[in-house]
Amino acid sequence: MEDLKKMNATYCVTGANGYIGSWLVKLLLQRGFMVHATVRDPANKRLLHLLSMWTGGDRLRLFKADLQEEGSFDEAVKGCHGVFHVAASMEFSVNVENGNIENYVQSNIIDPAINGTLNLLKSCLKSKAVKRVVFTSSISTLTAKDSTGKWRHVVDETCQTSVDHAWNSKASGWVYALSKLLTEEAAFQYANQNGIDLVSVITATVAGAFLTPTVPSSIQVLISNNRSTGQKEGCSIPSEISSKKLRDLGFNYKHDIKDMIHETIACSVDHSFLPPIRK
Ligand SMILES: NC(=O)c1ccc[n+]([C@@H]2O[C@H](COP(=O)([O-])OP(=O)(O)OC[C@H]3O[C@@H](n4cnc5c(N)ncnc54)[C@H](OP(=O)(O)O)[C@@H]3O)[C@@H](O)[C@H]2O)c1
Repeated sequence: MEDLKKMNATYCVTGANGYIGSWLVKLLLQRGFMVHATVRDPANKRLLHLLSMWTGGDRLRLFKADLQEEGSFDEAVKGCHGVFHVAASMEFSVNVENGNIENYVQSNIIDPAINGTLNLLKSCLKSKAVKRVVFTSSISTLTAKDSTGKWRHVVDETCQTSVDHAWNSKASGWVYALSKLLTEEAAFQYANQNGIDLVSVITATVAGAFLTPTVPSSIQVLISNNRSTGQKEGCSIPSEISSKKLRDLGFNYKHDIKDMIHETIACSVDHSFLPPIRK
């Protein structure tokens, strides 16, 4: 990492104004890297709030880029050593009263998600500088049930939901899971065919402090009254999400669950999403 800093390594973060993207930009700047941050609307006033939270702004360049426009990321990834692909459309509520829901999901959600990521990868290929692209996958692509329907005690990256199961079961969150699964599959296919070093990070549901001026959707879901209790039918102990691979790669956790809950609640109270806490 010191070597990369010395050579002024530059990283591109897509979706820089989102929950995860805004933290990535902050941490990369804090660590002394040059950052190319992409947003869809650089004129949005809400960006001013983030610009005030990101220190090291002399190493930051903002780019306007939209996943749905081919070539849109060409400038942003030019000269970058690595790309953190965090941007994704997070609107997945489908309400198809007349017509075929599968066709709707395929053409309105999955195809744009795949094309968006391929557009970014095409820009990376053109840049000739990008050494690695990190795709942001999701824990929603995993299942805690094994092929016989039994609950697993431990869930890790090998426990991927099958695409057929996601289409057929239409279980809660199926559209999001499918979009992530199929986008990841298409991204790996393109990367393998074109010699791009692509890795996928299976992100668990994110909580904790947020830099965004609005409450991120994952926190809204976690705090909402409809949240799941984590209890499984016929089983009182929730499956463990394995962090072995992360730890083996050298990752150390700095915050425990209490910190995360504390920060989530404190930020949500500050943003009036939760009422003030009475002492
Ligand atoms: N948060 C979690 O718990 C969680 C868990 C697992 C995986 N993930 C994954 O992590 C990534 C970021 O999640 P997040 O929670 O940070 O979401 P977020 O706060 O909603 O941020 C999403 C970002 O994507 C951008 N975006 C959406 N459509 C775009 C398009 N067509 N072109 C360019 N940018 C576009 C958004 O820009 P605008 O502001 O312009 O809409 C925003 O910056 C996503 O890929 C998500 O699937 C998140």
